[in-house]
Amino acid sequence: MEELDDLFTLTEKIERDASFLRESCRGKLLASLFFEPSTRTRLSFEAAMLRLGGSCLGFAEPSSSSAAKGESLADTIRVVSSYCDLIVMRNPKEGAALLAAQYSLVPVVNAGDGGHHHPTQTLTDLGTIRRLIGGFDGITVGFCGDLKFGRTVHSLAEALGRYRDVTLFFISPRELGVPSYIAAALKNNNVRYAETDRLEKVIGELDVLYMTRVQRERFLNEEEYLRLKDSYILTAEKMKQARKRMIVLHPLPRVNEIDVEIDSDPRAAYFKQAEHGMYVRMALIASILGCF
Ligand code: NCD
Repeated sequence: MEELDDLFTLTEKIERDASFLRESCRGKLLASLFFEPSTRTRLSFEAAMLRLGGSCLGFAEPSSSSAAKGESLADTIRVVSSYCDLIVMRNPKEGAALLAAQYSLVPVVNAGDGGHHHPTQTLTDLGTIRRLIGGFDGITVGFCGDLKFGRTVHSLAEALGRYRDVTLFFISPRELGVPSYIAAALKNNNVRYAETDRLEKVIGELDVLYMTRVQRERFLNEEEYLRLKDSYILTAEKMKQARKRMIVLHPLPRVNEIDVEIDSDPRAAYFKQAEHGMYVRMALIASILGCF
């Protein structure tokens, strides 16, 4: 918790003026290994490293790496970790980041492992909440959409559960509810939470509404995806029931779950959140590499 607090304080300092870190990672190399599509996570990590004066190498799709020839992840990691100072990896398999960390000579950052976790998105989300709401104690957060496959939800819910007096609402169709290991972790920590399938029922109680995309690529059955994909669409009409100071977050990419008319609502914070992600990752890289 203290580490998180220090990280967000550093992030906010960087956001005001990053010049004190401009050359701090000169000579350091970041390898970004993306076995799955990404826009914000990869580019914000690379932008962060470049802004710190470091350099980047890597691949954005596995077809251009030796994974396409059948190389194991362990072998790829052993080799790449001898070329760089830090690995940032996204992989479709749950647990891939843990395995990579066991074979790597350098620190490994999990940039998403299948439908499991996405911890640096959580740093982005928490950092944005702290910046816009001022803190976490006593807040009420609603997660809406695909809470089963949405890895950002898993990481953020667990992290929020560590703060004092937090209330979580999980809003999803029954088929897309939070996995039992997340519910169990929350129960273990005595976190107050409830599940519902009706956004309208709880939207008026929220400080943060965290919308998510239905994760098409993780469904085994396309028909099931088509049946569930439009379960929740946030419209200006629904926003009328929300508090004036509620914020809407979304890890992005958005498909249709937030109507574009909401983008101009002052409560829409998802683009600010994406920008914040780069500053958080600057703070994270500088901290991991001890560059300041
Ligand atoms: C998320 C992801 O990859 O899990 N995107 C992101 O990193 N901002 C969310 C998503 O793909 O829906």
